Amino acid sequence: MKIKIKNNIYWVGKTDWELRTFHGYEYSTHRGSSYNSYLIKEDKIALIDTVWKPFSKEFVENLASEIDLNKIDYVIANHAEIDHSGALPELMELIPDKPVYCTENGIRSLKGHYHKDWNFKPIKTGMRLSLGSKELVFIEAPMLHWPDSMFVYLTGDNVLFSNDAFGQHYANEYLFNDKVDQCELFQEAIKYYANILTPFSPLVKKKIEEFISLNLPLDIICTSHGVIWRDNPIQIVEKYMKWADNYAENQITLIYDTMWDGTKRMAEHIAKGIKQADRDVTVKLYNVSLSDKNDIVTEIFKSKGILIGSPTINRGILSAIAGLQEEIRGLGFKKKKTAAFGTYGWSGESVKMLTEGLKSAGFEVVNDGIKALWNPDNKSLEECITFGKSFVELCK
Ligand code: FEO
Repeated sequence: MKIKIKNNIYWVGKTDWELRTFHGYEYSTHRGSSYNSYLIKEDKIALIDTVWKPFSKEFVENLASEIDLNKIDYVIANHAEIDHSGALPELMELIPDKPVYCTENGIRSLKGHYHKDWNFKPIKTGMRLSLGSKELVFIEAPMLHWPDSMFVYLTGDNVLFSNDAFGQHYANEYLFNDKVDQCELFQEAIKYYANILTPFSPLVKKKIEEFISLNLPLDIICTSHGVIWRDNPIQIVEKYMKWADNYAENQITLIYDTMWDGTKRMAEHIAKGIKQADRDVTVKLYNVSLSDKNDIVTEIFKSKGILIGSPTINRGILSAIAGLQEEIRGLGFKKKKTAAFGTYGWSGESVKMLTEGLKSAGFEVVNDGIKALWNPDNKSLEECITFGKSFVELCK
């Protein structure tokens, strides 16, 4: 199936309604995803990206029903990750001599994945490829989010093919941003940014500024996952500029694990103190063992303050919290206030361990945290309320 995007640009990708995890089991995809591939039929014909490997046969069959594959002049590989390059082996078996345009790092990555010596044509930023009356302009985008990533811009139609950037894991039947549920769309877009692009935020800002300085008119952004931004495409660019700038809403999130509800009760009373101190702040609580990790990361991304709790077990912390700590260490959040809490029966190391973990993850630890012995009594719970009140002040 092909869908017309504008003039001679067609979507020839695959909507994956069933996908529930991505990057192995690293990223939850509650709303599926899509692998957007584009065919541009000008005097010269270019194919931009393909689809994930499980759909490679279907993709190539569909493409062959739309066009004689031998008429494709250029294959553009914006990104070597296999959700976009996965159908290249199947396609290139049929058109082995066609040039494959990608970055130098793209060549290394594609060779690393597929061990094929295709007719690679390395690109640099600013290089142009004529399709007749229109041109493709290449823009390298290293570490957004892999070293090989790049964008392609089509003159005349003013379309940016941005690959992963500005995307969302969001299967939908409409394809265009103005047709879908806006709440769902932006929820998936911010989750995507928080979980995938947070570590690269300084590069995101720089790349957007570089693109703006090129003064290229922008009518449409064709991403490689989720919707195509045709209605006011600059809105997602502006969101990215905000998200890349140490983004935080007026939200405090409490994330904990608990064995016999002691640490959970601490969380609830700290939350009570927060609300008593500031009725306007949004407070959310997540039991990490019962919640989706990527949804929690999204809430951390949106928060100005984070409180993390675990009881002490075997002189340490519960494993689900330990896993989350490792996840957020890698994401490198900046300028977020934090503190730890937890119950204990005898040795009581958890709060200190959580605090150290938060420090090494780059969070701004505002105090030494709070501990409660065994099942917290009324006095301990009052102390939790006071702790919550003081945390609000420290977040200001
Ligand atoms: Fe959608 Fe980095 O792959």
